[in-house]
This record gives sequence, C-alpha cells and structure tokens, in this order.
Amino acid sequence: MDVNSILNGIRENKFYYSRDILNRMISFSANDELEFKKFWDNLVHDNYVEKFTCRKRRIAKFHAHKTIELIADNTVQTSKLYNNISGGMTRYYKYAEDHFLNNRIFQDLLKLNVEIGKKYLGVESLIISCQIFRITPNEDGSKTPVTIGLHKDETHLIGLHFINSLNILGGVSKIFDNDKKYIENSEIVFSEFLESIYIDDTKTFHETTPIFRNNLAHDSFRDVLIFAMEFKK
Ligand SMILES: [Fe+2]
Repeated sequence: MDVNSILNGIRENKFYYSRDILNRMISFSANDELEFKKFWDNLVHDNYVEKFTCRKRRIAKFHAHKTIELIADNTVQTSKLYNNISGGMTRYYKYAEDHFLNNRIFQDLLKLNVEIGKKYLGVESLIISCQIFRITPNEDGSKTPVTIGLHKDETHLIGLHFINSLNILGGVSKIFDNDKKYIENSEIVFSEFLESIYIDDTKTFHETTPIFRNNLAHDSFRDVLIFAMEFKK
C-alpha cells in the first residue's frame, strides 16, 4: 500500500515527498538509528570538488535482478552537461564499508528502493548507484554549495533520504520540470531521519540551496543517502 502511494505520487507529480513514510515502512530502534548515523562520521574527503565545496562521500553499486548483488566498481561518470565542476571524467571513490553494507537499515532501504525502482520503471533488472554524502559548511559562516545548481543526476529514478544534520541553515531542496519550471510543493527542508524524496530524473531537474553554519563555534554537517536507479544497459 505504502509502495503504491510512492509510485502513484511519482507518476502524478514527477516526484514524491514524505516526512515519515519510510519511518513507518522500515522498523528500527532508537539505538539502530544512532548506530546507522555514525557511518557518516567515517566518509572520505571528495578531492574532485574541493575548490567548490567540502564534501565527504563513499559509494556502493548493485545489480538487482532476481537477487541483489554488489558490483565491485568505485567509479562515477557524469557528463559536463550538468556538472561543470567534476563532470566529463571518471572519478574514483572509496567504497562503502562492509559493516555499512550489512547494516539492517541499509539493507532494508536497498530492498525497498529496488522494489520501488523495478515497479516504477517497469523493469526486472536495475543498476543502483548508492551515494553516501556529508557536506560540511565553511567555518567562517559563508554559504557552502550542496549541489552544482540546477541539474540532473543522469539516471532514471532517484531516492534521496535524509540522515542527519547539525547546526545548519539553508539546504532547501527544489524540483523543476524539464522546462525548468518550478513544480509546486517541491520546496523541502529536511529535518527528520529518513525523510525522503523520490524524483523521476528523466522528467525533472533538481537542486539544493547552499548551507551555512548557524553557530560558528560548533560543529556542523548535513548527511544524506542517495539511491540512483537505472535500467541495466
Ligand atoms: Fe543531484
């Protein structure tokens, strides 16, 4: 039922947002949530964007058909069309840690996204590129980019899940159609664990506005988990 509301939402509006639907679909304790959030403390600096923003990340890739199998590929390629910072080259990233990949919340999110991706895209076989991100705002309180402006991820369906943030302002996610016209009610500021947006990347552009520190004396970050899903080529 809940999967159907997500599918119908994306079909009707090109995107679907919910503050709490994944919280209801995936069961975990407060301690499970705390343990899961700690994985974001062990991400690795993304040197490809260091002149643009302070981003840490790891990646993982999967092939989902009858089963879900890990793909030993730590590369990301996007074109220069939507990414003039780090597009147009093959980038290499640290792979997700084994204990992250085996974590029950991650496994449940992966299975749920595979189900949503297969049903929405109407395919039996999917490639899932999983991006684990932390953006740390500048220490001087200046604005720090989260995304490269309005862009596509160059995939078919995106599942974007909020994990955690500390001491930040800004970070408004917005979605636009392919004519770059703002889609109503798509302005979202994440605050809850597993608050989620599903976006049909073939029909939309998206962006998140920059973030900055609320209190300059304290640590600050914004953590998300992204599942980019595409047909197997
Ligand atoms: Fe994106």
